[in-house]
Amino acid sequence: MSPEQRSSQWYAGTDRNAYIHRAWMRRGLPAHAFDGRPHIAIANTASDLTPCNAHLGEVAESVKQGIWEAGGVPMNLPVVSLGETLVRPTAMLWRNMAAMATEEMLRANPIDGVVLLGGCDKTIPSLLMAAASVDLPAVVVPGGPMLTGTFRGKPLGCGTDVWKLSEEVRAGTLSEEEFLRSESSMIRSRGHCNTMGTASTMACVAEALGTTVPGVAGIPAADSRLLESAHGTGRLVVEMVADGRRPSTTLTKGSFLNAIVALAAVGGSTNAVVHLLAIAGRLGIDLTLDDFDRTGSGVPLLVDLQPAGQHLMEDFHRAGGLLAVLHEVRDLLDPQALTVTGKPLVDHLDGARIWDDSVIHRREEPLQADAGIAVLRGNLAPSGAVIKPAAASPELLTHRGRAVVFDSIEDMHARIDDPDLDVDATSVLVLRGCGPKGYPGMPEVANLPLPTKLLEQGVRDMVRICDGRMSGTAYGTVVLHVAPEAAAGGPLGLLRTGDWIELDVAGRRLDVDVPADELELRRPAQEMTGAFAAPTRGWERLYVDHVMQADTGVDLDFLIGSSGHEVSRESH
Ligand code: FES
Ligand code: MG
Repeated sequence: MSPEQRSSQWYAGTDRNAYIHRAWMRRGLPAHAFDGRPHIAIANTASDLTPCNAHLGEVAESVKQGIWEAGGVPMNLPVVSLGETLVRPTAMLWRNMAAMATEEMLRANPIDGVVLLGGCDKTIPSLLMAAASVDLPAVVVPGGPMLTGTFRGKPLGCGTDVWKLSEEVRAGTLSEEEFLRSESSMIRSRGHCNTMGTASTMACVAEALGTTVPGVAGIPAADSRLLESAHGTGRLVVEMVADGRRPSTTLTKGSFLNAIVALAAVGGSTNAVVHLLAIAGRLGIDLTLDDFDRTGSGVPLLVDLQPAGQHLMEDFHRAGGLLAVLHEVRDLLDPQALTVTGKPLVDHLDGARIWDDSVIHRREEPLQADAGIAVLRGNLAPSGAVIKPAAASPELLTHRGRAVVFDSIEDMHARIDDPDLDVDATSVLVLRGCGPKGYPGMPEVANLPLPTKLLEQGVRDMVRICDGRMSGTAYGTVVLHVAPEAAAGGPLGLLRTGDWIELDVAGRRLDVDVPADELELRRPAQEMTGAFAAPTRGWERLYVDHVMQADTGVDLDFLIGSSGHEVSRESH
């Protein structure tokens, strides 16, 4: 076994320090565990407070078996876990912290390679950011979606149906009692949300990037094949250490463009935009917002999954999964982009087939011809904003309407249902103060609820604009990630209720019909500045002082790039 193993810098030799490093680790481990074989961390985001990832301990056991079998030594490494539904003020505030903590613990310890166990929305992004910055051989095992639950004889889409059912209650078409009855049916099994929300999207994106064993994305958490894949991943990471295969040798701009093709073809979450930009930033790969528009446009939407469509992740897996989707758009993929297997992604598509073309459509019969995320610019979003046309109402994609402006989510909740609020179906609802700095952490609030009085009139969608994000399980004509955000001096902060807003998705424009000089005259008078966060200490302070805008991935400025895996000075 290789004496140049990184972990050998702790364990090799006969001196006092090597003795200390080995002795405390023995606890049943045989002497040959320290003979130079690779030590593999299993970075595990399992937590009872991240219910979507609570089962990852069992997945880790399968990974461990694979590592032992291939001649490595597995090391369980619990890392910061982020549960989307509980963590306040938003899990996104802690994504960079989780990434930083995982990066540093991998570097600080005698680790030669790592298996990354994630699931719930922020966990795979934070793990991949960490792996990129420590640049050790790394493979993701996505924890998998939950099985399909049912309510009133119909499948329940996790997340998406919460939004739908709660709107029905507000519209008076569903009783509160019935609504609450659906609660115990929402989560049928272990696993993450079963729609094409952010967790499922990031599993697909991780596979298209080449950072997972091909074919794993979308295997349900309760399916034995996930454990088989976890076992294979354990074997693979040992091989990767021997070959020196790591993020900097595997991931290229082409890998990211492949991920963007996958994102468009599956109709994935807009959150993938900020996550992919952040991961690329760690690798020094020049990925921009415009790459999403350029590469995504022309990619057909092939997957009919909620929130935009009908089916759920269990159907997606049964229908052939991501490899079947990528097989259909093979000509759009970079044939050179590698995977953790050492082979190009396209080489893994040969045997892929669609088993149910109502779930995964064939290229000739796409759900939409042009599915990508559109990037808008204009005097309301000089650095860009995004919209997912696949989740929007086609008739609203070109729209002129008067702004109804809210300065915070509290302001919105206080006034949205006010019978006297001057709003109609053509109005444009604007929510600001929800960007990375302003909130802080860029919460998923952009799909703000429609005013009840309009819901009662049958209105089901309106143009909404926000400097925050939107849940990957949500839908609607929502312009999000507006950059710069209001709290960073963006023009969104200068908008007033009654201003005319023009949305032109085909023309990629978002403008307010107010002359530039008049907008600037409003600048000192941002009465809403008090609504922005001003933390004085701790992570929030560090975050607000250093976070970058949505158009570059919302990472902290000093976390861009990589510090590598060099072993630091001795602790004794
Ligand atoms: Fe965890 Fe949806 S809440 S994936
Ligand atoms: Mg989410």
